[in-house]
This record gives sequence, C-alpha cells and structure tokens, in this order.
Amino acid sequence: TPRVFSGIQPSGGLTLGNYLGAMTRFVDWQNRGTHETIYCMVDLHAITVPQKPADLTHNTRELCAGFLASGIDPERSILINQSRVPEHAQLGWVFNCVARMGWMGRMTQWKDKAGKNQKAASLGLFAYPALMAADILLYHGTHVPVGEDQKQHIELTRDIATKFNHDYGVDFFPLTEPVIEGAATRIMSLRDGTKKMSKSDPVDASRINLTDDADTIARKFRKAKTDPDPLPGSEEGLEGRPDARNLVNIYAALDGRSVAEVLVEKEGAMFGHFKQDLADLAVAKLSPISSEMARLMQDPAEIDRILARGAERAREITVPILERTYEIIGMVR
Ligand code: TYM
Repeated sequence: TPRVFSGIQPSGGLTLGNYLGAMTRFVDWQNRGTHETIYCMVDLHAITVPQKPADLTHNTRELCAGFLASGIDPERSILINQSRVPEHAQLGWVFNCVARMGWMGRMTQWKDKAGKNQKAASLGLFAYPALMAADILLYHGTHVPVGEDQKQHIELTRDIATKFNHDYGVDFFPLTEPVIEGAATRIMSLRDGTKKMSKSDPVDASRINLTDDADTIARKFRKAKTDPDPLPGSEEGLEGRPDARNLVNIYAALDGRSVAEVLVEKEGAMFGHFKQDLADLAVAKLSPISSEMARLMQDPAEIDRILARGAERAREITVPILERTYEIIGMVR
C-alpha cells in the first residue's frame, strides 16, 4: 500500500495554522483509507533550536493529545515521536552525505531561521531538510500533506532520492509529492496578513492556539487586523487585501467550504459582524478539541503507551528499509 507521511514539530503549542493546514488534512487521509498513514512528532527537528527539556517533553505529549483530539486514531494511523524510531536519525546521516551544502544553503527556512548570524546557528538547523527527507523516505512515503511553507523541503526530498538512486544505480527511493490543498495552505498572522501565523511569533495575539479558551479566541478575532471595506461577493474583491483574505480563508477552512461559497453568502457584510461569526465558528469547532486535549493530558502514561506502540509498528517498516539502504551503500552487516 502507498504511504502518506507527515510531521509536526513539538516546539510550542499547536496553532490554527498547523490545525487547518496540516492536522485536518492528516485526518482526511486517514479516513479516506487509500493509504497507510504515518504521523510524526519530530522531536529531533525541534532541538535544532534550543528547547528546555521539560518543555520538549510537555509539548511532545500535548502534540500527541492534539493529534488524538483532532481525530487521528492510533490503530488506523501510526503515531510516533521521531526519536523513538532510531532509523530516522540513521537514514538522516546517510542523507547528510547525499545532500549538497549548496542545496541546503538555498532553503528559505534556513535563511529565515538562521538570520544574519549564520555561523551561530546549529549544524542541525542547516541539515534539517536532510533529516526531513529521511523521515519521509524511510517509509517510502509518496504523499506528504503539508502547508505551503514546506514545499521547498519536499522538493529537496525528491532531489535527495534522485541523487541517491543515481549515485548507487538503483531505483530504491520513490519521488515524493507534496500535497498542498484546501483553503488553509497558508494561514497568516492575525496582526499582519503578509506574515505566516507561527508558533514562534513573540506576539501571542497574532495566532490562535489550540489551547486558547473561548474568550481568548473571540478577543483575538475581534482585534484581528482588517480593512474598512465590506466583504466582496467574489475572490477578485480580495485582491490586495491580505488581512481580509486571511479571515475569509480561515472561515472557509473551519467550515469545510470553499472561499467562493463563503463570499456568496457573506457578500456586503462588514468585518465587525463577520469577525463575530468567525469567532463563534472557531469556538464551536475548536473548543471540543481543546477540552479533549486537556482530558488526554491528565493521563500522560497513556499517551506514552500510544507512542511506544506506534514506534513498534513503525519499526516493522523502517528497519528493513534502513537495512536495504546500508546494503546498497556497501556497509558490512
Ligand atoms: P511545522 O511544525 O512548522 O508545521 C507543521 C505543519 O503545519 C503547517 N503549517 C501551516 N499551514 C498553514 N498555515 C500556517 N500558518 C502554517 N504553519 C504551519 C506546516 O506547513 C506543516 O505542514 N519541517 C516540518 C516538520 C517535518 C515534516 C517532516 C513535515 C519534519 N519532517 C516530514 C512533513 C514530512 C515543520 O517544521 O513543520
């Protein structure tokens, strides 16, 4: 069976961007039943920037609770934390030796995250995309649902697979497709419609966290940046209005409808009203998830058991693929 793989970093709370851009897609793929689905909390990626140990533990468990509360069934999908399946790091090393420094240096996420002082960034941050390629290719994953910001990394995954296959004269690693679909592939900051909504933004009001309570969600949407014009009747009317566009995208994604459909219904509404509707919709959709997350977090041992079981199942796939990779390379086994 073909496999879907995707991952989320346990480097802070889950945002509405992660939820709409990634998590809801993961659930769709699982429920479609056409592919084996593997979802990963990428703790090894998280430590490419400093993480307090207690926070990393908490955030990994909370992310797992988020997966479960959003509808990931640990029987139907394989749910793992990356460090528990050691083949990720092992294949990551191999890909460090396949990927070229020049490829890594072109990654926009590297440039953004390293900032001006690249020499002070960790070596892991630079090598990040090679480990990500390993995550996917360790399962021979072909479909990777992600938000728009991960597209370049998936393209690099193809480059690594192609170079490996070419260098060793094999047809072993498949070419991966990024699956970037729906109204929520790029959810923007509530304070600046030209900037991605991000868990690392220092301004909490710029994002909705899955753990926010109803009042906080309503207040953040009420204060979200917009423009004075009413909602247009079609998508052309959103051109040059990034803040307005973002709120309509969020509404459509939460409601499982297209932007066009939402605009037909809401044409002429003022944003004051629309933001109230949006807040109500967001609270209705998100509060069952946040309360389920809180409930699951009361039993961390159960979460740890789920992840241990996931790792066991994952290794039935990853051990043979890593072994075959080592054989191809010529490692004495
Ligand atoms: P991360 O943890 O930054 O984000 C997890 C997923 O959420 C999506 N996302 C968004 N989508 C729409 N709007 C937003 N504002 C938004 N913010 C985040 C991301 O696109 C992503 O799909 N490198 C990855 C983690 C990773 C991975 C992998 C993904 C590691 N190995 C293998 C796929 C396959 C990352 O940092 O995602």
